[in-house]
Amino acid sequence: MAIQIAPSVLAADFARLADEAAAVADVADWLHVDVMDGHFVPNLTIGLPVVAALLKHAALPLDCHLMIADPDRWAPEYASAGARNVTVHAEASAAPVRTLRMIRSAGARAGLAVNPGTAVEPYADLLPEIDMLLVMTVEPGFGGQSFLDLVLPKLRRARHLIARHGSEVWLQVDGGVTGETIGRCAEAGADMFVAGTAVFGAEEPAAAVEQLRAAAEAAGRHPWPEAIE
Ligand code: DX5
Ligand code: ZN
Repeated sequence: MAIQIAPSVLAADFARLADEAAAVADVADWLHVDVMDGHFVPNLTIGLPVVAALLKHAALPLDCHLMIADPDRWAPEYASAGARNVTVHAEASAAPVRTLRMIRSAGARAGLAVNPGTAVEPYADLLPEIDMLLVMTVEPGFGGQSFLDLVLPKLRRARHLIARHGSEVWLQVDGGVTGETIGRCAEAGADMFVAGTAVFGAEEPAAAVEQLRAAAEAAGRHPWPEAIE
């Protein structure tokens, strides 16, 4: 899978979401939308009504990252609304197989996310049920945190699991992804990169996306899984 960049609107101006989305529409692959409920994570952001509004204005497909306590209840609704990818946290889902299947049957790609302290191995059997695995590289809840290098060995293990499974599952990283850290993620096997501050905190968001992509391509050992030794 080619490198994909998903700017996170968490670092954008929420009062100008459509304009901010337009600023990266020509260069990014996805628009990452962080849904937080103040329960699963301490922060509170936006929910279904704002995502539905953004869907009408954003040219890029929406990648909805649900950091909410009850994803089983809400995830299918984001898919039905038109989000192209919906990711639920393994730590929050009581019935991940059912929820992932409902996301897919509503027409979206299904993502499964794991926090920095959550191992990926227990979820290996779910690989056939998902289109993307999100390995969080910060504790979820806030933008602008420092990248956690301690996650890199797990990222490598995740890439090996996916390679062994022989599937097309994308491997996403989210949190602290910058021009300085993205190369390490790509080298470890990530192929989809979420970046909030590094894009919308930059003077020119579109140029920042292009720089991130170039840095990831320079460092990555793609295409996977053939390149894995
Ligand atoms: C954090 C969110 C991220 C956040 C990343 O919980 O899931 O998507 O926007 O922000 P940066 O890139 O600033 O770390
Ligand atoms: Zn996110």
